[in-house]
Amino acid sequence: MPTHMRFRRRSFLGLLFLFSLSTSALYFIYSAPGIVNEYLFMVQARGIQIRENVRNIGVQVIEQVVRGGYSISITDYPYVNVSDTEVQPTPFLPEDFTYLPSQECPEKLPSMKGRLEVNMSEIALEEVERWLLKADPTLGPGGLWKPHDCIPRWKVAILVPFRNRHEHLPILFRHLIPALQRQRLQFAFYVIEQAGNEPFNRAMLFNVGFKEAMKDLDWDCVVFHDVDHILENDRNYYGCGAMPRHFAVKLNKYSYMLPYQEFFGGVSGLTVEQFKRINGFPNAFWGWGGEDDDLWYRVQNAGYTVSRPPGDVGRYMSIPHHHRGEAQFLGRYTLLRRSKERQYLDGLNNLHYSPLVSRETLYTNVSVTLTRELAPVPDY
Ligand SMILES: *[C@@H]1O[C@H](CO)[C@@H](O)[C@H](O)[C@H]1NC(C)=O
Ligand SMILES: *[C@@H]1O[C@H](CO)[C@@H](O)[C@H](O)[C@H]1NC(C)=O
Ligand SMILES: *[C@@H]1O[C@H](CO)[C@@H](O)[C@H](O)[C@H]1NC(C)=O
Repeated sequence: MPTHMRFRRRSFLGLLFLFSLSTSALYFIYSAPGIVNEYLFMVQARGIQIRENVRNIGVQVIEQVVRGGYSISITDYPYVNVSDTEVQPTPFLPEDFTYLPSQECPEKLPSMKGRLEVNMSEIALEEVERWLLKADPTLGPGGLWKPHDCIPRWKVAILVPFRNRHEHLPILFRHLIPALQRQRLQFAFYVIEQAGNEPFNRAMLFNVGFKEAMKDLDWDCVVFHDVDHILENDRNYYGCGAMPRHFAVKLNKYSYMLPYQEFFGGVSGLTVEQFKRINGFPNAFWGWGGEDDDLWYRVQNAGYTVSRPPGDVGRYMSIPHHHRGEAQFLGRYTLLRRSKERQYLDGLNNLHYSPLVSRETLYTNVSVTLTRELAPVPDY
């Protein structure tokens, strides 16, 4: 066969290959739910975690397509592989390091060992309480704790938005409380539970939690924490910094990759000053999705950038569950496009509510019925 023939034949086959590749990619994107479901069916036997992974990847692909359609700034790749090239700027302190009660606790303590064993088994809250109080009787009420051997660098209020996930709370506490104690932070937990029948409003719950927490103590750092996110590394330091922080960088349900560069969900933290300056979260996101993207824009609009822990320090496992009857918020793209105009109209400054507050051993329960009338937005 003459060379030019072979060449043509090869390039024809190449084209055919590329064509089939791109059509199948397109087919995957536009019919992702169908394909994903079919795939789910096939791998059902392999257990719940795989199902969760596939479903979430499907959701992320759709998310990218929709975001692209609305020309919100997106990255070229649906998945961002956070490189491990960022190195720890300073080493952790040696094992025999001694603290001084009169001095500020260091940030890189020898007690922070790194990788944690995660145990997702259900456990009774009372059992976790017993176990934690035995280890340190000074813990609580409200999950309030501070170090005894040095002065805490940060006073951190951990806010956990909540509805119908009672089995998740003890799993979160059994992992997070010992880790925060090893980090020598002062902290307390606020579980903000949404009562009533409106769709879940994670962002508004955070605003309520922030206002309630500030009545208790002069916190200087606030961590916004989903109840189903379990940290896998206790060197993921829950203090704040000069820039807003995104802690949950690598999630098992997203194959330990950042779903997109602007992702700010799961676990994030701002100083009280930063949070006030961006006017908190938006109140207008009813249902699942979008409010964390809006927080990202608020942070950028205020001139901040987001910092993240390096490498595998930001790994989390999510407690497997189903979004049973939780409505997605379909209006989120419309709101996101107007993020900047809305920032100082909707947030901490237009929020009214009447909570029911009770102090439990490991957390403060802030129960609140949310309705749209509680956060009016003037016409603009
Ligand atoms: C992500 O980065 C790690 C280490 O830098 C590398 O081993 C891995 O292959 C990368 N994954 C992808 C999908 O590029
Ligand atoms: C996980 O937690 C359960 C409940 O507390 C306990 O019975 C089990 O031994 C733990 N598993 C491991 C591997 O530690
Ligand atoms: C919080 O308090 C409300 C109202 O008293 C109660 O119904 C709810 O079960 C409590 N939630 C938690 C997580 O303790």
